[in-house]
Amino acid sequence: MTALELATVETELLSTPAGGIQRHIGEFWTAKQRQMHSLHYSNSYRASFKPELPNFFIQNFTNKGDVVADPFGGRGTTLLQAALTGRIGISNDANPLSERLAYPKVNPVTVQEIERRLCELDLSADIDFDAEEDMSMFYHADTFKELINLRNYLKNNRDDVDRFIEMTAISRLHGHSNGFFSAYSFPQISIPKSNQEKINQSRGVEPDYREIKSRILRKAKVSLKSGKIAELRKTGKQHLITTGDSRDLKDWKSESVDMVVTSPPFLSQVDYVQDNWIENWFCGITKDDLKDKIVQTPDLNIWKEFISDTLTELHRVLKKGGLVAMEVGEVKYQNMILNLDEILLSLTCSRQYNMKHFRTREIYVQSQNFTKLANCFNVANNKKGTNTNRIVLMEKI
Ligand SMILES: C[S@@+](CC[C@H](N)C(=O)[O-])C[C@H]1O[C@@H](n2cnc3c(N)ncnc32)[C@H](O)[C@@H]1O
Repeated sequence: MTALELATVETELLSTPAGGIQRHIGEFWTAKQRQMHSLHYSNSYRASFKPELPNFFIQNFTNKGDVVADPFGGRGTTLLQAALTGRIGISNDANPLSERLAYPKVNPVTVQEIERRLCELDLSADIDFDAEEDMSMFYHADTFKELINLRNYLKNNRDDVDRFIEMTAISRLHGHSNGFFSAYSFPQISIPKSNQEKINQSRGVEPDYREIKSRILRKAKVSLKSGKIAELRKTGKQHLITTGDSRDLKDWKSESVDMVVTSPPFLSQVDYVQDNWIENWFCGITKDDLKDKIVQTPDLNIWKEFISDTLTELHRVLKKGGLVAMEVGEVKYQNMILNLDEILLSLTCSRQYNMKHFRTREIYVQSQNFTKLANCFNVANNKKGTNTNRIVLMEKI
């Protein structure tokens, strides 16, 4: 029995120039938080999807040994889920930060290795504060000194233990509890310095000293608690992780991918450069490195062209009959709510965007609520799901 048969699903019919397309609305995976492998939760990442989403599509539409890819990899959710289910993963993102987060998840190390390495590290060397970015609103001077020493060490030391330590350190850069390196801040978003100064003022505090090694070790233990370290490690080097534009996946071989499970930027909903600025700073990734690379546009026509060009590139890398599960959401656009799944559907029916080479099979909406929204297609049963997970399943033809 498939997950679709198991879930309570309502199906509506969208009429398109290419015929009726079924849109299934239901709870295909649990709404509960943190139910999957602990490595998935080692880093917060803006607009990441729940691992249950790639798991649903991987389990229902691919077999063991298949190649599962994500051109907008983010924190590596699809990659890790592919690895955990015996598939070969490929992950790409325009931001090199993604590779720093994704690689250690599929090449994890043991707590003992991390503990040993941390013991060996001396993070107490003096640093030239004037040569560094002013981060005094986030970090106590002694915490900052340790952070810079760690960053300098990681420039030249990059085995799998170092890389796991780096990923874990990135996850501790800012947040609200004592487990983070910063003064009280937001865990999901790197907020601007001026906002952090306001938080410090309103709480009447200055950043206190947060020793970093013990915090890295504590978080690493939590990330690794689901185990499967040896299994993941055995296949870790089979996966491919690239940094580049989704419209030009240079290092991905033609006709090599069985299924793509992905989620592109939704117009300009999220600012991936600004919201990750502290992570980028720690990794030495500059705004210039990302300029014109991260696509976040408020213009629907530019977005459509971007997605269409990405799909053209995905057509090249997919095997014949290969699938794309593309997750989009609903966005506010010119005073209305736009269901981006319908925009994607219109793309696959459009001559203008030259989308003859994909056929939409069906759409899935992961939803607990049923609310009416603006639609651009006729809906047979007049019930329209809302929620952020709208997945269009397309097939290469
Ligand atoms: C919705 S997020 C994907 C999150 C991912 N599914 C996860 O679970 O972490 C979109 C990603 O697209 C990336 N991105 C933006 N423009 C891109 C481009 N032109 N090519 C490749 N990646 C891009 C952003 O850096 C961001 O990580």
